[in-house]
Amino acid sequence: MVSGMSQSHPRITKAVIPAAGLGTRFLPATKATPKEMLPVVDKPAIQYVVEEAVSAGLDDVLMVTGRNKRPLEDHFDRNYELESALQKKGDADRLAKVQQSSDLATMHYVRQGDPRGLGHAVLCAAPHVGDEPFAVLLGDDLIDPRDLLLQRMIDVQQQYGGSVIALMEVAPEQIHLYGAAAVECTADSDVVKVSGLVEKPDVEDAPSNYAIIGRYVLDPAVFGILRTTEPGRGGEIQLTDALQQLVDTHTPSAAAEGKDGGPVHGVVFKGRRYDTGDRGDYLRAIVRLACEREDLGPDFRTWLRRYVTEEMQQP
Ligand code: G1P
Repeated sequence: MVSGMSQSHPRITKAVIPAAGLGTRFLPATKATPKEMLPVVDKPAIQYVVEEAVSAGLDDVLMVTGRNKRPLEDHFDRNYELESALQKKGDADRLAKVQQSSDLATMHYVRQGDPRGLGHAVLCAAPHVGDEPFAVLLGDDLIDPRDLLLQRMIDVQQQYGGSVIALMEVAPEQIHLYGAAAVECTADSDVVKVSGLVEKPDVEDAPSNYAIIGRYVLDPAVFGILRTTEPGRGGEIQLTDALQQLVDTHTPSAAAEGKDGGPVHGVVFKGRRYDTGDRGDYLRAIVRLACEREDLGPDFRTWLRRYVTEEMQQP
């Protein structure tokens, strides 16, 4: 059994989605359009992320935005003009698509102002979140809707307390792109105890090839730590550094008295994840998701098979 295990942790209802990044990897597409609005098949990437939060039971969603992010607010709001035009035409299918994103969740927005890093973006959520554990979902990471990662992380947080991060094994030469975790086994085969964290280490300094992927369930104690976290890697206030401090300061007795943020555990994810912040992975995500769609899939798969076997073979 795990020390400090308890069933009495407060229920998690709030999701925080940092969305203030500039999206420079997708220029010129992102010159005047937020990268979160780029379509993955026919839905903006950010809608998948909000849908994931909602299907894990979190329907209070705070987006941390910045300049040029108005389209995000518009997307999750009503569009009466469009709705009444579609209503007049009797186009119920498209009307449902328009209404779906505004009916999804209770949306809130806060602006980051100064883009000082992921840790700073999460700190901007403090007044809205208050003193409850909460989830953070990074928009660049798309988790396949059939793989229930966030729900599992919430269950693990309710069981172990403290904070929970999502981890995925990556090839050693990829680890410099992620936060990396030193881990120890637990009684649950998909759960590890985190004993150390490094943001984007060089391969020779990485404590393991367990990479943090963009899902977190955090104890609100992280806010107190973030207020004093110095800029780290890249001169930015790193969430990974604040989590390292949670690991360092945690003792079971202090946690039992509510004096620290508790332990940090990782859920090891073996499902399907797409990094829509990377152009190659973004294309792969679109192809895979389009192939699997009931409406578009059959025709698209036939075309793709022909394209790969015939056209791509030509010099
Ligand atoms: C952020 C985090 C990093 C994490 C990654 C997951 O980095 O700082 O620890 O591994 O997200 O996508 P970013 O990719 O925003 O630079």
